[in-house]
Amino acid sequence: MKSVLVTGAAGFIGVNYVRRRLEVGDERMVALDSLTYAGNGRSLEPLVGDRLDFVNGDIRDTELVEKLIRQHDCGTIVHFAAESHVDRSISGPDAFISTNVDGTHSLLKAARNCWLSGDAMPHRFHHVSTDEVYGSLTASDPPFSEENQYQPNSPYSASKAASDHLVRAYHHTFGLDVTTTNCSNNYGPYQFPEKLIPLMIVKILHGEALPVYGDGMQIRDWLYVEDHCRAIELCLEKGVAGEVYNIGGDNERPNIEIVHSLCDMMESRILGSEALAERFPDCPASRGDSNRDLISHVTDRPGHDRRYAIDYSKAEAELGYVPEHTFSTGFERTIDWYLAEEAWWRSVMDGSYRDWIDTNYQGRG
Ligand code: NAD
Ligand code: TYD
Repeated sequence: MKSVLVTGAAGFIGVNYVRRRLEVGDERMVALDSLTYAGNGRSLEPLVGDRLDFVNGDIRDTELVEKLIRQHDCGTIVHFAAESHVDRSISGPDAFISTNVDGTHSLLKAARNCWLSGDAMPHRFHHVSTDEVYGSLTASDPPFSEENQYQPNSPYSASKAASDHLVRAYHHTFGLDVTTTNCSNNYGPYQFPEKLIPLMIVKILHGEALPVYGDGMQIRDWLYVEDHCRAIELCLEKGVAGEVYNIGGDNERPNIEIVHSLCDMMESRILGSEALAERFPDCPASRGDSNRDLISHVTDRPGHDRRYAIDYSKAEAELGYVPEHTFSTGFERTIDWYLAEEAWWRSVMDGSYRDWIDTNYQGRG
């Protein structure tokens, strides 16, 4: 059986994807990740074994990618690796162009060289992208469909848009078998605490101010990561080469509502558990105060998109995709995971896991 090359497998969605495929699939996987600040080798380490190899390497290294495809007989690439945080793309766009545009192009070149030179073999390059390529909606606009014009507004979304175009071009020009999914904001276990939901969870536990950008009325369509991973599997199984599928969570909410819900749900957990109150003495709820007191409206993000919403009817009709998680089930699971996995988020935030990487992955790849 051919193997699957998963790029960015040590990041948030990549780890969830690999864990799920180990549970529900039977294929071998090669996880390729350069372990930037957002990639955590420790999330993958317990999974490495007969069905999973980990390689500490860069998607921009075309030679390495070709070597891995040939050596492990990879017939599928699932491409997650990216710089993914909008705020970082505003303070430092260069890395986004380099990884998201050049990096995706490097993978496409390697895939073409391995899969299309000589006798073409069955293959699939699946590109994981974002709804942010479509720009921003007003309150009354219909949700994004696959027909929407690309109007990226941040360096992050512009770099993802460029990568989507390259994937499309490699299909139309060279005949590479590609599919792309454009999904909405994911949340769930293993998300680096710089994105809204895990950042707010960690700040609530520490009793730190919760920075809500502007009026907090920006809307996102929150997608539980497990639903997203299932959608990718469905796309690999049933998606048509050259096609694009939008993946959403049926869960449009303004940021301030998300922050209120997190404050309240964590308050009820802490009020119900003396052990939690002892572990997190700086959390307002541990002293009987309201977590909402931490909310602080701060200067808005430059160019902040007002609303994203996804019409996933094409994925529903052609792939059989519908989200299984509701706001309530997804949020409960996420909060419970962050409360249980304090060691994980502390290690990724304080950078101590870098020592661990150096010890465990020196010279691999
Ligand atoms: P993430 O930032 O958590 O993880 C990205 C991973 O890529 C990290 O492990 C990092 O080490 C790795 N990486 C970065 N540069 C690399 C390079 N040059 N070579 C090899 N590995 C490299 O991101 P995520 O949230 O897991 O997102 C995964 C993909 O999904 C991205 O392509 C992102 O654009 C897309 N996406 C994410 C969301 C979301 O809400 N998280 C929504 C829509 C689309
Ligand atoms: P984020 O998780 O960074 O994802 P994206 O920018 O890709 O949508 O942000 C989600 C929303 O939350 C977005 O509208 C920006 C807002 N936000 C805050 O209000 N405060 C914060 O500290 C962060 C990180 C995000």
